[in-house]
Amino acid sequence: MQKMLFLGILLFSYSQMSQQIQKTTANGKEMVSNPKLVLVEGTLNVVMKQNVTLSCLSEPGSPPVRYALFKHNQQVSALNRSDLSPALFTLTISSASDVGEYKCKAEYNNSSGGKYSNSLSFTLLEPISKPVLSSPTSRAKKGQNVTLSCFSENGSLPITYLFFKGTQNISPQKTMQKRKAAVIFLFINSLSDFGTYKCKANNSFPNNTKYSNSFNFTVAEERSHSQPLIISLGLILLLLIIGLALAIPFFIIPLYKAKKFKSTRSSIGLTSTVNAEESYTENEVIYSEIEPLRPEEEYMNFSIIRREEETGENLNL
Ligand SMILES: *[C@@H]1O[C@H](CO)[C@@H](O)[C@H](O)[C@H]1NC(C)=O
Ligand SMILES: *[C@@H]1O[C@H](CO)[C@@H](O)[C@H](O)[C@H]1NC(C)=O
Ligand SMILES: *[C@@H]1O[C@H](CO)[C@@H](O)[C@H](O)[C@H]1NC(C)=O
Ligand SMILES: *[C@@H]1O[C@H](CO)[C@@H](O)[C@H](O)[C@H]1NC(C)=O
Ligand SMILES: *[C@@H]1O[C@H](CO)[C@@H](O)[C@H](O)[C@H]1NC(C)=O
Ligand SMILES: *[C@@H]1O[C@H](CO)[C@@H](O)[C@H](O)[C@H]1NC(C)=O
Ligand SMILES: *[C@@H]1O[C@H](CO)[C@@H](O)[C@H](O)[C@H]1NC(C)=O
Ligand SMILES: *[C@@H]1O[C@H](CO)[C@@H](O)[C@H](O)[C@H]1NC(C)=O
Ligand SMILES: *[C@@H]1O[C@H](CO)[C@@H](O)[C@H](O)[C@H]1NC(C)=O
Repeated sequence: MQKMLFLGILLFSYSQMSQQIQKTTANGKEMVSNPKLVLVEGTLNVVMKQNVTLSCLSEPGSPPVRYALFKHNQQVSALNRSDLSPALFTLTISSASDVGEYKCKAEYNNSSGGKYSNSLSFTLLEPISKPVLSSPTSRAKKGQNVTLSCFSENGSLPITYLFFKGTQNISPQKTMQKRKAAVIFLFINSLSDFGTYKCKANNSFPNNTKYSNSFNFTVAEERSHSQPLIISLGLILLLLIIGLALAIPFFIIPLYKAKKFKSTRSSIGLTSTVNAEESYTENEVIYSEIEPLRPEEEYMNFSIIRREEETGENLNL
């Protein structure tokens, strides 16, 4: 009973309200509401050569109404309606300047000014360019983590990327809201991971999926094996060179000098006392240098020289 009463009151007040609304619209054209601009054909994301249709309607209207369409606050089209039907505007997107913000305005016969609608914004969709698949590391070895990046330079955002190894996709879709490359990380742990990689990209431009270049990782395992070998070979070579460099003053020059001395000795020999003296000083130097090794031959040579010296000294005396 109480519920019924409540409902009755509700209904009564509702009918009162609607009556009032009807009265005000009938009475004053000054109660003109803002028109509504809606898209009736096409999409807000447009492509070149696309047709879109907009509808502008002021409700409740009192015809005749003059409807005008504005783009960036500049009127592009207008038409009169003598009935309550909406004004329909069809646009063909033929240049980048055709996209942007649109509004419509409803003007009544004797009203001053008119009312503006909500705005609708069109954006031009661009097809994506062929994506580029790349990696900072083209050589990889087993057990290595590598990255793959896929990037379409042009095309409307967002762009959705997908990565493939062979024909199998190896990652969930990556949708980029910014103009940034999609990146995945791969763990190379078998030979098949060196296969051919590709990625594909698409955006909301119709029928617009593009595949990237293919990318291979090359095995770096052989190089890693040969590297220590090359290093050790280089080290051995370096040691040899150092050894040789050390050998020159310590072994080869003394050897050469000793040979030279022997030959001078045999050629000039005991013929002059001056020579013998010179040989003595020279010999002393040779002796101290050769001493640590004491090769048998040199030693013998030396003792011979010593005797010669003695004889020389004797001669001097
Ligand atoms: C767009 O409209 C024009 C006429 O306004 C028409 O000639 C053209 O074929 C239409 N294009 C499409 C894709 O519907
Ligand atoms: C619409 O009506 C206005 C007068 O209200 C008139 O000036 C204008 O020329 C008409 N426009 C069209 C497109 O019929
Ligand atoms: C404007 O309204 C007046 C009456 O309110 C009417 O006589 C006149 O024909 C209307 N003009 C147009 C262009 O509809
Ligand atoms: C429009 O004109 C009618 C009569 O011509 C008048 O009664 C009405 O008040 C006018 N409305 C406005 C908004 O001026
Ligand atoms: C590779 O990355 C994964 C996680 O992405 C990590 O668990 C693993 O330890 C990494 N391996 C190497 C060799 O860096
Ligand atoms: C991207 O667009 C710019 C400008 O339109 C153009 O110069 C460039 O070649 C395009 N890049 C690709 C990969 O298509
Ligand atoms: C891009 O392609 C994928 C399939 O690969 C599809 O699921 C997705 O809807 C497409 N995105 C757009 C914006 O068309
Ligand atoms: C996209 O391709 C499908 C079939 O591949 C076709 O039915 C559709 O009409 C195409 N859409 C556009 C806008 O070209
Ligand atoms: C990648 O490797 C496959 C064989 O594994 C070969 O057929 C293909 O040509 C290679 N692609 C590139 C870009 O090197």
